[in-house]
Amino acid sequence: MKNYAYKINGGKKLVGEIEISGSKNAVLGILAAAMLVDGPLTLENVPDISDVRVMVELCRSLGAEIEMVDVHTLRIDPRSICTYKAAGPLVSQIRASYYLMGALLGRFGKASIRLPGGCNFGDRPIDLHLKAFQLMGAKGARPSDIDAGIVNLSANPLRGAKIYFDIVSVGATINAMLAACKAEGTTEIINAAKEPHIVDVANFLNAMGARIKGAGTDTIKITGVPFLKGDFVYSVIPDQIEAGTYMVAAAVTGGDVMITNLIPTHMEPLSAKMREMGYIVEDGDDSIHIYREPGTDIYATNVKTAPYPGFPTDLQPQTVVLLCLAEGMGRMHENVWQNRFQYIPELQKMGANINVFERHALVNGITRFKPATVLATDLRAGAALVCAALAAEGTSYITHAARIDRGYEHIVSKLRSLGAEIERVEYDSIMDDPEA
Ligand code: EPZ
Repeated sequence: MKNYAYKINGGKKLVGEIEISGSKNAVLGILAAAMLVDGPLTLENVPDISDVRVMVELCRSLGAEIEMVDVHTLRIDPRSICTYKAAGPLVSQIRASYYLMGALLGRFGKASIRLPGGCNFGDRPIDLHLKAFQLMGAKGARPSDIDAGIVNLSANPLRGAKIYFDIVSVGATINAMLAACKAEGTTEIINAAKEPHIVDVANFLNAMGARIKGAGTDTIKITGVPFLKGDFVYSVIPDQIEAGTYMVAAAVTGGDVMITNLIPTHMEPLSAKMREMGYIVEDGDDSIHIYREPGTDIYATNVKTAPYPGFPTDLQPQTVVLLCLAEGMGRMHENVWQNRFQYIPELQKMGANINVFERHALVNGITRFKPATVLATDLRAGAALVCAALAAEGTSYITHAARIDRGYEHIVSKLRSLGAEIERVEYDSIMDDPEA
C-alpha cells in the first residue's frame, strides 16, 4: 500500500468561506443503527471520509444493501442482512465497528464481533459497553468471555434495564441505546454522554419509530418496540470537530474565514476559549465568522477537556497549536484520554515550546512555527499538524495522510479554496524533494 503525505507551503492567511460536512462521529453510529431497521431508508449529508467507507463495507459484509446515490447520499436496506457475525480485518480498522454489537444484538438477539481498532491514545476498554449488554440479559458479556479477540453475545430476549455508567462514554451510551430500541421493556441510561452526535443517533432511531427520550441530557430513557419502520430520509448533523479544526486553521494563519453549515451552539466550548484569547468569533444562524482585529494581541489561556458540553477532547491537539502562537503560558489538561499528547514531539520539531507532565501540557507561546516533516500520530493530531504547517512559512510535510483522511472530507480542496498551498503527495517522493 502506498504512503501519502500532505505537502503544505505555509505562511499564507486563509481567507474565504467553506462549508462543513456531515459528522463522522454521528454517521458511524447512525450507520450501525440503520442495521436495526425493518425497511429501506435514505441517509443524506454523509461525509465522504474513509471511516464511513469502512463502516459501509462492514454493513455490506453483513448482507445489507447500501447504494451510493451520490457522494453524500446513501440508500440503505438492511432487510437482507444474513449474519450476526463481523470478525474480518475491516472490524479492527475503526473503533466504531463495536456499534454493530448493539445493533446486531438488537436485531437478532445475537452478535459475534471482533474487538475494535481506532486511534491509539492509551487504553480503549469496552467494559462499559459489555456491562450494559450484561444488564440487559446478554450472555458472553463478561470481559473473561472474550474469546481470541471476539465478543460473542446472545440474549433471548434482551430486556430493558437500569444502566449506570460511572464514566461518561460516547460509545457505550450509543451502544446501549442501539441494543435497547427493540428490547422488552424500558431501559434507563444514567450518566449518559451528551455529545451532539448522541442526540443525532437518537433522533435517527426515533425517526424509524424508536421511543427514546432525554438524549442530550444525563439520563436517557428507551422504551423497546417490536418494529422499526424504514421509508424515511434523514440528514446527518454537521461535524463539530471538523468545524473547530477550520476555526483553528483560520486563526493560526491570521486569516478571515466564514465557516458555514454548522451549529454554533455545538462550537461554544471552542468559541468561548478563542474569544478569551482575543480572536473575533461571530456566530450566525448556521455559520461562524472567525478573524483577528489587526493589532490585537492573542493571549494564552487554560483548557481542560471534558465530556460535552465541556471542551471536546477531539479539539485538544488543534487547540494546543492555537496556544503555541499565543502570548504567555497556556495549559492543556487532557481529562478524557490517558495519553493524547503523542503528537507533541512532532509539534516540537516545528519549534513548539511545550512541556508535558502526565495529562498536562504547558505551552509557552512562540512567535512562529518553522516548517518540518512530521508524522500524523492519529486523526486529530494530524489535523493539528496541518494547522501548524499552514501557519509555518515554508514547506512542511505531514506523513500518514491516510489517518487524516479518516475524518476530514476533501481537506485539500477545502483548504485550497481558502488560499492554502496544499497537495497530497506520495510519501516516498518526499525523500528526493530538495525542499524536504
Ligand atoms: C468517541 O470515542 C469518539 N469516537 C472519539 O473521537 C472521542 O475522542 C471520544 O468519543 C470522546 O468524545 C467516535 O465517536 C467514533 P468514550 P469512544 O467511550 O466512544 C473510557 C475522533 O477523533 N471508557 O467516550 O471510544 C475511555 O477509556 C475520535 O473522532 C471506559 O473506561 O470514547 C475514555 O477514557 C477519537 N470503558 C473515556 O471512557 C468503556 O467501556 C471516554 O471514552 C468505554 C470508554
